[in-house]
Amino acid sequence: MTKGIRIHANGGIETMRWEEFELPPPGAGAVRIRHSAIAVNFSDVNVRRGGFYIAQPLQFPVIIGNEAAGIVTALGPDVTGVRVGERVAYVGSGGPFYEMTGSYAEERNLPASCLVRLPDAISDTQGAALLLKGLTASMVFNRVFRPKPGDTILIHAAASGVGLLLCQWAKHLGATVIGTVGSAEKAKVVAAHGCDHPVLYRETDFVAAVKRIVPEGVSAVFDGVGLDTFMPSLDCIRPFGMLVNYGNASGHVPPLDILLLAKKGSIAVSRPAFSSYIADPQECRVACDELFDLVARGILKIEIGATFALKDAAEAHRMLESRATAGAMILLP
Ligand SMILES: NC(=O)c1ccc[n+]([C@@H]2O[C@H](COP(=O)([O-])OP(=O)(O)OC[C@H]3O[C@@H](n4cnc5c(N)ncnc54)[C@H](OP(=O)(O)O)[C@@H]3O)[C@@H](O)[C@H]2O)c1
Repeated sequence: MTKGIRIHANGGIETMRWEEFELPPPGAGAVRIRHSAIAVNFSDVNVRRGGFYIAQPLQFPVIIGNEAAGIVTALGPDVTGVRVGERVAYVGSGGPFYEMTGSYAEERNLPASCLVRLPDAISDTQGAALLLKGLTASMVFNRVFRPKPGDTILIHAAASGVGLLLCQWAKHLGATVIGTVGSAEKAKVVAAHGCDHPVLYRETDFVAAVKRIVPEGVSAVFDGVGLDTFMPSLDCIRPFGMLVNYGNASGHVPPLDILLLAKKGSIAVSRPAFSSYIADPQECRVACDELFDLVARGILKIEIGATFALKDAAEAHRMLESRATAGAMILLP
């Protein structure tokens, strides 16, 4: 028997139950992992709540969670290239993010093909905190818009898990970084992670603040907030610039009249989804190696905002939804 956090229906944090369940032996091509650090992501909240993201009804009970690190403890038939005792991490285990979840548990089985071996320089906690958020930052900067020296960019929710990595990476690439944050405390955190101009967007009109710093507008906006920030962000961008909307922490962005992009100065909008960018395992490994190298060289520092016992995952969700955290949140089994 093993233990984990299961939901039996969509809803609030009261649906998250600490329960014991039977874990079968790993099937063909799969391994069993004993988790040592489990990431909390906003997508876990979206799966728990249900709603606009989820294409089909979930098959309850569901163990939520998509990302963790741990040790391989057993191999199913036909597994090659992985050994018992190896230290690994993973994000996703095939299919869309709301399918084949199961990381909020002491142990789980998953396809060996999903595993990323952790180098010695990366701890289990760092591995769990890095993969989804780091690969999202990698997707955005390597595949959608790469800031360069001379660019001024705007990063929304700059103290978020993804936001803090974007800040540090953009600074390393030579850009000037404006970052919106929800509190004065978060402003201090982002300033320590490469943000030149923190803007308290709950108290200040961020469009006016951006125009004061860079009157012609920013080269690009990176937006994981969605509903509350998307439309005003169009007014922050210089002609031919880009709005990259990668998340919806405040809600879904409504349909966009594409002609507006012409009127705003021939700007572009991109809405990348992480899973399509890591679908090729080889490309995913290359992206992971780049991230591990950036961390090992101290260019990306992984900020762990809070850790909780796995059984207290509901409290972690409460904090995430109340916007109380900066950086990554980790559950310890
Ligand atoms: N496209 C993809 O493939 C992909 C991959 C990874 C993540 N994402 C999405 O990107 C977004 C950010 O991810 P993350 O891991 O960086 O998030 P996170 O660490 O959970 O932080 C989210 C932040 O968003 C801000 N926020 C603004 N309005 C909010 C609201 N109504 N409710 C909650 N938070 C709100 C808060 O910061 P302030 O207090 O500073 O406002 C909050 O701390 C999420 O929507 C996530 O699902 C997408």
